[in-house]
Amino acid sequence: MRYFTSGYYIKPTEIFSEMTDKRNSPIEITKDEFKTIGYQLIDTISNFIDSIDEKPVTTGETSKQIQNVLGNAPLPEDGSPVSALLSRASDLLLDHSLLNGHPKFFGYITSSPAPIGALADLLAATVNANVGANILSPMATAIEKQTVKWLAEFIGVDPACGGILVSGGNMANLTAFLAARTAKAPKSLKEDGLANTHGEMVFYCSKATHTWIEKAAVLFGHGLKAIRWIPTDAENKMNTEILSQTINDDLKNGKKPFLVIGNAGDVSTGVVDDLSAIATVCKTHDLWFHIDGAYGIPAAVIPAYKNLFAGIREADSIALDPHKWLYAPLEAGCTLVKNPQHLVDTYSSHPVYYNFSNQDDEPAINYYEYGFQNSRGFRALKVWMALQQAGKNGYIKMIGEDIALAQLLFEEAKKHPELEAITQNLSITTFRYVPAGFMQDAKKNEAYLNTLNEKLLNVLQVGGEVFYQMLLLQANIV
Ligand SMILES: Cc1ncc(COP(=O)(O)O)c(C=O)c1O
Repeated sequence: MRYFTSGYYIKPTEIFSEMTDKRNSPIEITKDEFKTIGYQLIDTISNFIDSIDEKPVTTGETSKQIQNVLGNAPLPEDGSPVSALLSRASDLLLDHSLLNGHPKFFGYITSSPAPIGALADLLAATVNANVGANILSPMATAIEKQTVKWLAEFIGVDPACGGILVSGGNMANLTAFLAARTAKAPKSLKEDGLANTHGEMVFYCSKATHTWIEKAAVLFGHGLKAIRWIPTDAENKMNTEILSQTINDDLKNGKKPFLVIGNAGDVSTGVVDDLSAIATVCKTHDLWFHIDGAYGIPAAVIPAYKNLFAGIREADSIALDPHKWLYAPLEAGCTLVKNPQHLVDTYSSHPVYYNFSNQDDEPAINYYEYGFQNSRGFRALKVWMALQQAGKNGYIKMIGEDIALAQLLFEEAKKHPELEAITQNLSITTFRYVPAGFMQDAKKNEAYLNTLNEKLLNVLQVGGEVFYQMLLLQANIV
């Protein structure tokens, strides 16, 4: 038996060389065929990108209609020609998808994907680097390290901080959450779990915080009651006076505060908390300061917005999503950590079958020690390439224009007699339709207006004309 050695698969070359010179695998594609169908695919994709605005934003098909188009074929017993498969996959996807790269897609925060990102993903999949360990992906690891450094530089924090590319905002925040807990909990946490933390570990965020915080509370064993929801002020920023009071109350009651989360562009209205004030509170009480900048923090690159983001250099960790405002195709998130040793302390393990040490003077980063994944794809490539294609100035222009367009929408909504302009922060504008005669008494008719706007939105969306995000009006954001 030559298939296995110490638990590893080896290519059974010798066995096959006894039977044939070259293994004939059903999944191979010849060089000529790859070129022909590859060029065809590139033609299809470039036509799609060029004419995306002629398509509806979405076809509005129901799940049943989509299922009918897809069909219900059983798992194929035998293979099919690649060109037919690619052609069908292209038709299915290009003609039956919601196109978030469409100029009339205004919903949620996924950006239009930079075409260079699509090419980068093709290249990354071809090399198939496993960016879990340096030895398995020497160049990809170096590129990821440089990408992390550039992202830090981009938003204006110390490029010497460390970090890791992850799948998106949830993972970027969850990755940091656990690093914060390791840093602030007693060392016994690893052995004893939460039972021996000398008081319930509690953490603080404004009520505008994204739902990842509830996931963290539930998944990591704290429970929802460990979240201290701090009210927001008139501008929808975390009220830092109440934050301080709540921390003091918790300390008096024997709780163990360990983490405060500030938003740098909250998911609903794009508000940036007073990050400097939160940093000061964290310093006073020796708490980990995390910023959820998954959506908004790239705007810190714009010189005129530097003040709005003052305080980001104080953060112990930051979540930032290139697949949101850096125009990377899904998936690309990033966790930045001031002292990356906290990631290693949290995630590193050394199974006997890993031989990933290196002989270099400077120890290489093995990214499996920085986060949840062992085997990891090469997400950094698309971000690294887009950052170079546009350069910092290119991003300043794009992000600046996005903000200017959102501001223009707000101004237009303000001028319209039947639109109520509600909030404008970063690239997020909120407004609603208020029929003539209702404007004076809008507050009294909140339920009716919410239903009306929801219906209006659904009609517009199903028609494929435009795609907005629904945000039920809450009293505090008016
Ligand atoms: C501020 C913020 N945090 C976290 C997330 C979650 O990001 P993802 O959907 O990439 O997991 C979002 C998503 O919109 C967000 O806006």
